Amino acid sequence: MKIREASYDNLVECADIKFKADGSKYSKNEMALNLKYLKKYYENKDSKIIVAGETEIFGYIIYTFDIWNNSVKVDFIYVRPDKQGIKIGSSLLDFVIKEATNKNYRIIFVETKKTENRAIEFYKKNGFIINCIIQERYKNDDALIMSKHL
Ligand SMILES: CC(C)(COP(=O)(O)OP(=O)(O)OC[C@H]1O[C@@H](n2cnc3c(N)ncnc32)[C@H](O)[C@@H]1OP(=O)(O)O)[C@@H](O)C(=O)NCCC(=O)NCCS
Repeated sequence: MKIREASYDNLVECADIKFKADGSKYSKNEMALNLKYLKKYYENKDSKIIVAGETEIFGYIIYTFDIWNNSVKVDFIYVRPDKQGIKIGSSLLDFVIKEATNKNYRIIFVETKKTENRAIEFYKKNGFIINCIIQERYKNDDALIMSKHL
C-alpha cells in the first residue's frame, strides 16, 4: 500500500472517507465545511496530509508540527470502513512517527474522545499511553490526551 503526501485533488475523497468512517449521513453543508478544513490543513505550512493508496484512497492522517516545543500532533486519522483492521491506520501512523523521529521531534500526541474505544485501543497498540483526561471537553464526552515519546 502506497503511503504518500496528498494532492489537492485527493481532498474530496478524504472528506468522503471521514463521513463514511464517522457513520454520518451526508449533508451538503457538513461536507463543504469538512472540505474547507481539509483545505486549511493542506495550505498550512506546518501541517501535512498523508494518504494511503494511489488511484483510490483508503485512509489519511493529518498532523501538525509544533516547532516551538518540538512536538507533533495527530489532528485526524481516518480509514475507510471497508478497509479497517488491515493495518492501514498503523501504516499511516508509522509514516508520521518515522518522519518525526528523523526530524528529531521529541513527542507525538493525540486527543481523542474518552468513549472512542476503537481509537484508544489503536493508539495503545501503536505505543501511545494515556496522559490525562480533560473533563467535559466535548458536549457529551471527556477527552483523553495520549502520547508517545520518540
Ligand atoms: C482508528 C482507526 C484509524 C484504526 O485504523 P485501522 O487501519 O482500522 O487500524 P489497524 O488495522 O492498523 O489496527 C491496529 C490495532 O488497533 C487496534 N484496533 C483497530 N481497530 C480496532 C477495533 N475496531 N476494536 C479494537 N481495537 C482495534 C487493534 O489493537 C489493532 O491491532 P490488531 O489488529 O493486531 O488487533 C480506524 O478504525 C478509523 O478510521 N476509525 C474511525 C475514525 C477514528 O476513530 N479516528 C481516530 C480519532 S481521530
